[in-house]
Amino acid sequence: MDNARKKYIIANWKMNFTPGEASLYLNKLSNKIQPSRKLQIVLAPGMVSLQTLSLQVNRRQFKLAAQNCHWSDYGPYTGEVSLTQIRSFVDYVIIGHSERRYVFNESEKQIADKVSAAIRNGVTPILCIGETALDRKDGETNSAINSQLMNGLRQVSKEDIDKVIIAYEPVWAISSNKGAKPANPIDIIEAEQLIRKNLAKIYGKDIAEKVSILYGGSVNKDTAAGYLEIPGIDGLLVGNASLIADQFCAIVEIAKGVRNER
Ligand code: PGA
Repeated sequence: MDNARKKYIIANWKMNFTPGEASLYLNKLSNKIQPSRKLQIVLAPGMVSLQTLSLQVNRRQFKLAAQNCHWSDYGPYTGEVSLTQIRSFVDYVIIGHSERRYVFNESEKQIADKVSAAIRNGVTPILCIGETALDRKDGETNSAINSQLMNGLRQVSKEDIDKVIIAYEPVWAISSNKGAKPANPIDIIEAEQLIRKNLAKIYGKDIAEKVSILYGGSVNKDTAAGYLEIPGIDGLLVGNASLIADQFCAIVEIAKGVRNER
């Protein structure tokens, strides 16, 4: 078994903070969080703050991620931003977040093309997948996960798959959704095993074991340890709790301490 996968804590700030506020918040986090070789901390501010933060950030302490990107490198796409334009600011990009899928109707084809754009531009894609409450109610959890996984990765070769991070985020567990409830570790274990089984079918078992799989959905300092201890879960994607310094720093400290040897 390969235990060499990195552990990640990724902060998704969504559409919060002006560039000035983001800069002050980064400063606050920098003073509270010590870099750790075992843990990669990634901050995903709004697009408008990326340039400012990229000049300010200590990249040994934090890496930056975009929350979205366009699938082309240049072109007539009014209002869009490509990874070619921002790749000097970021190391990661969140792709296919449920808010992009369901609020902005992003298609599987667009998501797959964005994953390719990320790999082409040397930026690590964090592909978000996860079933809705309705999928779960209808017994369609596995097929929703499989189809988002396979469609999202359909242009990713065997050589490139270990450059991709998968984030399992059941839509019903995301804190901003009405009636959200935290996922049970058993649901996450099942999803992680399903994802790795499907990765193994396409890329082979050894490669599937190398892919980092994160969990996201209503994570806070009280639930983080329980999720991080799940074998095969390599970190967390944190929304709401990442906006509060005390919460986020506590989650980071917990992640530094947790060992989930498989
Ligand atoms: P949450 O968001 O932690 O507020 O549930 C997670 C996400 O949307 O990525």
